[in-house]
Amino acid sequence: MKLSVQLYEQARDLIADRLGLDFPERRRADLERGLARVLRSRPATTPHEVLAWLGALPADSHEWRRVAADLTVGETYFFRDGGCFEALEQKVLSALVQSRRAEGAHRLRLWSAACATGEEPYSIAMVLDRLLPDRADWTVTILATDISGKALEAAQRGRYREWALRETPAWVRHRYFRRLPDESFELDPHIRAGVTFAPLNLAGDAYPSLVTNTVAMDLILCRNVLMYFTDEAQRAAVARLQRALVPGGWLVVGPAEASSELFSPLTAVNFPGAIFYRKTGAARPDVILPDLAAPSSPHVAAEPVRQPPIAAAPPERAAPAPADAATSLQHARALADQGDLERARELCETTLARDRLNADAHLLLAAIHQERGQLVAALAALRHAIYLAPDSAPAHFLMGCLLVRQGERRRGRRCMETVVGLLTPLPRGEVLAAGDGLTAGRLLETAQAYLESR
Ligand SMILES: C[S@@+](CC[C@H](N)C(=O)[O-])C[C@H]1O[C@@H](n2cnc3c(N)ncnc32)[C@H](O)[C@@H]1O
Repeated sequence: MKLSVQLYEQARDLIADRLGLDFPERRRADLERGLARVLRSRPATTPHEVLAWLGALPADSHEWRRVAADLTVGETYFFRDGGCFEALEQKVLSALVQSRRAEGAHRLRLWSAACATGEEPYSIAMVLDRLLPDRADWTVTILATDISGKALEAAQRGRYREWALRETPAWVRHRYFRRLPDESFELDPHIRAGVTFAPLNLAGDAYPSLVTNTVAMDLILCRNVLMYFTDEAQRAAVARLQRALVPGGWLVVGPAEASSELFSPLTAVNFPGAIFYRKTGAARPDVILPDLAAPSSPHVAAEPVRQPPIAAAPPERAAPAPADAATSLQHARALADQGDLERARELCETTLARDRLNADAHLLLAAIHQERGQLVAALAALRHAIYLAPDSAPAHFLMGCLLVRQGERRRGRRCMETVVGLLTPLPRGEVLAAGDGLTAGRLLETAQAYLESR
């Protein structure tokens, strides 16, 4: 399909705005091919009509997610870029595991952003399976997100053709895959169960956020996707990914994407065959903590601080006014963002000890429990949050995510339907109370993506 100059420019700008994807003149044919695929699914429409139709739809809507799948290459395979996985296994993850063991903090949070059909996060899950013989004693989150619902569905099926295993050593195949009569390979159910899939547009603003479980990451793989973004979308995504990392956390990009300028807020670290980027420096200086061991919270034990030092404010002695509770929750959120989940939890519980009816504190506590992998405690806190604030869309959303993770799809779907019902009447740009900066439109689209993909 050939587009006129005007239509090509209109399509290019619209796609850059909604998906972050860049289609300069040299990739014009790719755009035209992708748009031709979109047109095939809408017979009797002209390119002009398709662009007008898409232009009226919000980013992350179901239709745009399909367009994203038509416009991008989902090509991936297990253990893609051997040097990267070697460095991950032998240097980065082994050192991280060792230091967490030494700290007695058996917790890891990893994220494959733009995971396509799942080969990348599952490869990481296999690496961790080898690094953690005592896996049962660890809380490990492997989050895997992509904009394409189709890719996420395939990822969750966990069945692959031989071509996806072209770089997979024979012993890994034997250990983690079962060959089926139709010559496909079925992934070990334990590895499959270790990865949580969710829809997420990297060109959007739904991350980092406690609600989407995209904070306090030790390691983010964002490979072979930023290279398709416009400069502006790349910069915005890198800034968000950086914020999603704990201090000391790692960002891994594709070999063709390494750029000292783009990743300049992070420090480049060279390994044989791979360059990774590291978030150095201390915790955010604006985080000032109330004294957790203040007399008003005698049940809270002061613990050694695992993260870099955070300045402490004088102890609070008087009972706090509501504004104090809000400030405490703000501190707790900032701590959780930095991965200091233990102190974030303590601060939430201190706040709740003073005000059991604080729905925001229950919700934040639930998100923190989720991050710590304590799903039962998270559900209990959410029940309080929803009881106290039945109209809280973030609380229903989180409940839906947790239920889906626990295999309760029907109940999870009902929660997502509630989210859609609550948010549909609101202006899309409205920032949600206790939603960690999320807008109504963004959460609505994410809930809709869940409903479509499950
Ligand atoms: C080439 S695959 C990368 C897979 C894997 N990370 C790897 O390196 O092998 C690119 C993926 O990026 C996804 N993608 C494209 N635009 C995206 C966006 N705006 N947000 C999230 N994912 C996006 C596509 O759906 C596709 O699955």
